[in-house]
Amino acid sequence: MIIAIDGPSGAGKSTLGRMIARELSLLYIDTGAMYRAAALAVIGSGVSTVDQQAVAEVVTRADINLEGDPDSLQVMLDGRDVSQDIRTEEVSHSASVISTIPEVRRTLVQRQRKLGERAGGVVLDGRDIGTIVFPQADVKFFLTAAPEERAHRRYDEDRLKERNATLEETLADINKRDRRDSTRGDSPLAIAEDAIVIDSTEFSIEEVFEQMLKAIRERK
Ligand code: DC
Repeated sequence: MIIAIDGPSGAGKSTLGRMIARELSLLYIDTGAMYRAAALAVIGSGVSTVDQQAVAEVVTRADINLEGDPDSLQVMLDGRDVSQDIRTEEVSHSASVISTIPEVRRTLVQRQRKLGERAGGVVLDGRDIGTIVFPQADVKFFLTAAPEERAHRRYDEDRLKERNATLEETLADINKRDRRDSTRGDSPLAIAEDAIVIDSTEFSIEEVFEQMLKAIRERK
């Protein structure tokens, strides 16, 4: 059983991915966290994100792993737990930039396929899961919400973590990342033909969760 969840940032993919994985006892793979760990490796190496070949080499060498269950997923980079370090603005930006490099994508997609194939069943969230990584996925979701709503959610989360970007800055950042993620040449964010599209602007997480579970049960 492979469940693909794609969509723009702040649409609730990882929260819902975890909930679905827990409910159905599946492995959960946050592919965005893998791009973030790769970005952290690049930042740590000191190479410029403009130097595509050097970036690709750093990412190929980086040992990126996801460990633990959906609720306490640990993102490991070269044996170190980087789960917190990958959630900064700098890493968000660099992850979006390096994920446009085809060689970086090839390396990470290969790892994602291996992880997914090894597991009995898996929920993956990202931007290209239903289109590129697992086009044969059993159920595909495309989660979205109005940019203003996604910015609000991100802003509320950031405030809890005592980060102090304004709502306007958060919205500008979301719009910039959306544009980069959906206009890059290699596997841009796109809706798979057979994806179930859910716009969560007007729904709570619990309501979306119920819609997704219903769709999965119908497909099974
Ligand atoms: O989901 P996220 O915000 O943690 O992802 C960080 C960046 O990684 C995002 O800007 C785009 C990129 N990404 C990608 O290109 N493909 C994926 N499958 C997942 C993330």
